[in-house]
Amino acid sequence: MFSKLSIAATALAALSAPVAGQTYRRLGSCPSLGCVLPPDQADFLPGQLFDLRVEVHAPVNGSEAAHDGKPDEKFKVTIAKDGEKPRDFADAFGLDEPKLEKWDFQWYEDLFAEDADKPSVVNVAAKAYRKLALYEPGTYTVTLSYYGNETTTAEWTVRDVSKERKAKNVILFIGDGMTTNMITAARLIAHKAINGKYQSLMKMDEFPVIGHQMTHSLDSYITDSANSASALYSGHKSSVNAMGVYVDSSADHFDDPKVETIVEVFKRVHKGIWGAVSTALLADATPAALSGHSRSRYDYGALIDQALNGVTNFTWTKQTGPDVYFGAGAEQFFPNGNSYQGKDIYDQFADKDFQVVMNRTSLLELGEDDKALGVFCQGNLPVWLDRNVYTDNLKGLENDPAGGDGDALDLPGLTDMTTKAVEILDSRKGEEGFFLMVEAASVDKQMHALDYDRALGDLLELDDAIRATIKLLEERGSLEETQILVTADHGHGFDVYGSADTEYLEAQDDERAKRRAIGTYANSGESQYTQPRNVKYGTGANFPTDWEPRYAIAAGVGAHPDMRENYKVHKSPRSPTVRIGDEYYANPEDGEGGFVTNGTLATDEAVGVHSLTDVPVYAWGPCQDLFQGTFNNVDIFYKISECLGLGVDEESGDGGDDGECKTSRRKRQHN
Ligand SMILES: *[C@@H]1O[C@H](CO)[C@@H](O)[C@H](O)[C@H]1NC(C)=O
Ligand SMILES: *[C@@H]1O[C@H](CO)[C@@H](O)[C@H](O)[C@H]1NC(C)=O
Ligand SMILES: *[C@@H]1O[C@H](CO)[C@@H](O)[C@H](O)[C@H]1NC(C)=O
Ligand SMILES: *[C@@H]1O[C@H](CO)[C@@H](O)[C@H](O)[C@H]1NC(C)=O
Ligand SMILES: *[C@@H]1O[C@H](CO)[C@@H](O)[C@H](O)[C@H]1NC(C)=O
Repeated sequence: MFSKLSIAATALAALSAPVAGQTYRRLGSCPSLGCVLPPDQADFLPGQLFDLRVEVHAPVNGSEAAHDGKPDEKFKVTIAKDGEKPRDFADAFGLDEPKLEKWDFQWYEDLFAEDADKPSVVNVAAKAYRKLALYEPGTYTVTLSYYGNETTTAEWTVRDVSKERKAKNVILFIGDGMTTNMITAARLIAHKAINGKYQSLMKMDEFPVIGHQMTHSLDSYITDSANSASALYSGHKSSVNAMGVYVDSSADHFDDPKVETIVEVFKRVHKGIWGAVSTALLADATPAALSGHSRSRYDYGALIDQALNGVTNFTWTKQTGPDVYFGAGAEQFFPNGNSYQGKDIYDQFADKDFQVVMNRTSLLELGEDDKALGVFCQGNLPVWLDRNVYTDNLKGLENDPAGGDGDALDLPGLTDMTTKAVEILDSRKGEEGFFLMVEAASVDKQMHALDYDRALGDLLELDDAIRATIKLLEERGSLEETQILVTADHGHGFDVYGSADTEYLEAQDDERAKRRAIGTYANSGESQYTQPRNVKYGTGANFPTDWEPRYAIAAGVGAHPDMRENYKVHKSPRSPTVRIGDEYYANPEDGEGGFVTNGTLATDEAVGVHSLTDVPVYAWGPCQDLFQGTFNNVDIFYKISECLGLGVDEESGDGGDDGECKTSRRKRQHN
């Protein structure tokens, strides 16, 4: 009965909100004037720590203006389990009533308001209930009552997750932005086919189970890497640019209601260890979301601090630190304006017993026994194509990981970093097992730059890292106890639609005539990237033998700025556009001899953007069958939790002898 009532209330609230469902919103997770975060439809792992934020909005002006701009300060919050009698929220958790907070914020209702610079102003009254946990599986109804007769309800589900462990370790490979279309294109350029049959395959192709992941954000159907990673790691959807939190309307990035991530639960409750490997900045969204809690993925310095030391200024779990942390983004580590509070973060890691390495030679020399930090350059790691084929591009980058202006030339690849991480974690894991996330970040970064060859090179490097990991685990006798997953966080609208005769294209003067060089259907021919005639790179099996064939793949994306295309490999990294005034135009120095196509994006977009597509999930290991079918990105968190037996009950509880979990332990509801 209770749930019927709450559905009616939610529907009413949605109808009465004049701009609900528009792309510009007061607060995406909050269609009515009362906000409950975590919102309706949220799922929880039993015992997973989280905060509750409630807000009451009083719009001062704009289409929603109401209540004279005075928010109700006497709102009430209750919680009810499975239709039981609602209880006062603070009471149910044995908390003192939190203090009332007040602020205001502004938002634009649409593009006309933005052009006219007429923001709508909203006054807010709010409270935060911090560090909570629900242990009993079931449905919980949280109700915020305000303005006398209005309510906002949220139905929460605490999922029934097994306490029985099926795998000891989990390795989660993420090809950032990687789609099935990209995997298909990578296979085409790296694996030879005879009469339509591939003679070798991607390692991913050998995985026994494949699933399909929906990447929709909490409040937008095109996602970004922060909230999508956060969904994979925490089982909670969030909003663009946010990780480990639900986005509230306050200005402070760090006071938003937090949710605990897989590595935090795994370490706090189960004493497992974890690691992260990325070709991006370690502060970038995909690695940072493992341990980060901020509404802005750009709080780079603070996110690295959170990885090592836990969340500053809140009593939240401090047991977050990785055992292995390999990647790039040295500017967040040597003391400078980008490192947290200007401090030497290398020193902080060393003080916590990490071996610190800054080049490939030292990485390979690391033993298996110690925790390790490896940061190999400033900025993102140069991509596989530049590290292995067009190596002159490594010169002049002034990306010395120690902070000098020299070039970082002794660079590891993803396979080097991954196999070393596996050795260390597998050796240090004890009975508790390990969780490792490995990200091929530049699949996404190069797709943004419309540099398809660089993106596919890094996708092939990811496949190489997967191949090497499986071989290494087998040699170490750890393969059978390890669940291996390969997936993505979102995609780009990329595909190959034929081949392009680059010589014919270049020889034509007329832009329209150039398009005749594109061979479709029968004229696409066969892959020229795997021909033995031009084996000059020595980059080994499972990579192209020739990156500069006459007949190149004709590929493109659905979302792009104005651009010039000639389909040839870019011998130096691609810059598709130039800025003139506030707009971007096709870069006259890019795609020489090619033809210009009009963009499909706003003219202030310099690069391509993400798309809606579902992404694949490949599974190999003791829990592989859990990953069949079509499911939500958040389900990956619950499937991994099921596989590792992360369900807890009150008795085994927090496992914390650190006295940090008082709120959730002091007095539990509904038992
Ligand atoms: C709302 O009020 C603010 C502050 O007075 C003003 O700047 C803004 O233009 C107003 N917005 C609308 C939509 O009237
Ligand atoms: C609440 O009461 C006000 C004032 O009587 C009324 O205008 C409004 O429609 C009511 N809202 C709901 C959701 O019942
Ligand atoms: C923590 O609190 C201090 C003092 O109020 C403040 O300067 C700092 O910015 C806060 N840090 C974070 C990450 O919120
Ligand atoms: C690699 O780093 C070590 C210190 O860990 C240093 O002694 C060595 O010179 C570096 N090698 C190169 C090629 O930069
Ligand atoms: C398409 O490109 C041409 C040539 O640059 C330009 O004149 C035209 O305005 C563009 N069309 C749109 C819709 O942007």
